[in-house]
Amino acid sequence: MSENMPMIPAPRIRKAVFPVAGLGTRFLPATKTVPKEMLPIVDRPLIQYAVDEAIAAGCDTLVFITNRYKHAVADYFDRAYELEQRLASGGKTDLLQKVRDVLPEGVNAVFVTQPEARGLGHAVLCAKPVVGDEPFAVMLPDDVIWNRGGPGALAQMADLAQREGGSVVAVQPVPREQTGSYGIVATDAFTDRHGRISGIVEKPEPALAPSQLAVVGRYILEPRIFALLEQTTPGKGGEIQLTDAIAALLAERPVHAYRFHGTRFDCGTHIGLVEATIRFALDNEAISDQARQAMQRALDELGVADSR
Ligand code: G1P
Repeated sequence: MSENMPMIPAPRIRKAVFPVAGLGTRFLPATKTVPKEMLPIVDRPLIQYAVDEAIAAGCDTLVFITNRYKHAVADYFDRAYELEQRLASGGKTDLLQKVRDVLPEGVNAVFVTQPEARGLGHAVLCAKPVVGDEPFAVMLPDDVIWNRGGPGALAQMADLAQREGGSVVAVQPVPREQTGSYGIVATDAFTDRHGRISGIVEKPEPALAPSQLAVVGRYILEPRIFALLEQTTPGKGGEIQLTDAIAALLAERPVHAYRFHGTRFDCGTHIGLVEATIRFALDNEAISDQARQAMQRALDELGVADSR
C-alpha cells in the first residue's frame, strides 16, 4: 500500500445480536415462567444492561434470537401505550422516562426465532438475514460488564475494531480449574490490551487449555463468520459452537483478543447475579446508604464468625 493512500477506516458496528433462546435451567423455579433475561438487577432486567451497552457503542439495530417461550422479552421492548399514558397523566415523569429509555428513539428491535436449541453458533447464524454483509456485535446478556464512569466493554472493542480491522473477542484471565467453562484463546504477545488470536478452543479440560484467557460474552465479528457457521458441524456438547467458527475465521482474517476495562459478573450463576445486585445497589445513589446498612445488618445478624 502506498504511504499516501488514505486509510479506509473499518465500518462502525450498527447491529448487535442477543442470543436469548436458552432455557435458563440454573434459575429454576424462577425461570419456569420468567425468562432468565428478565431477572432484575435492582430495577432493570438483565437484558437491559447488555442493550444499554450496545446502544452506547453506537448500535441502532438490536437483533434478539428468541424462542416461543420468550414472549416476555419481546413484550418488554414493545411500547406500553396505556402504561405510558397513565404515568404521563399522573405526572410521573421520572418513571415515564425510565419506561421510554428501555428502547430509545431511533433504535430498532428485531426478533428472530431460533426454532431448535442447536447451540450458540446456530443462534448467531439465525441473525444472518437481518445482519447481512456488515460487521456486527454478539452480546451474551448473562455477562454483565460494569466499567464505572468509563466506556462500556463493547464501545472499547468497537474502537479497537475500527483501529485494527478484523474481529474482536473480549477475554479475561480465569483460574486454570475453570477453563472447562469457557472458550479459551491462545494469542500472540499483547500490546496494550490486545493480542492477535492464534487458536481458540471451546471449554477445554484444564490440562489441555492453551492459556487461562477466557472468552466472555462480547464479540465483534466480520460477516464472513456466517459462511463459516454454515459449514460448522456440531462440536462440544453436540452443539454448533461459535468458538469453532471463530477458529476457522482466524485462519483467514485477524481476530483480536481484548482485555476490557471493567468488571464482569457472570449472571448466569446464582452468585454472579447476587454479586452484580450488591454492586449496582451500592453504586445507586438512591439506595446506596441503605444497601450498605442492609449488608452490615446481614453480616452482624448472621454473624461474620459464622462464615464457614
Ligand atoms: C459461551 C461460549 C463460550 C464463552 C462463554 C462466555 O458459553 O460458548 O466460549 O466463553 O459463552 O460467557 P456458555 O456460557 O453459553 O456455555
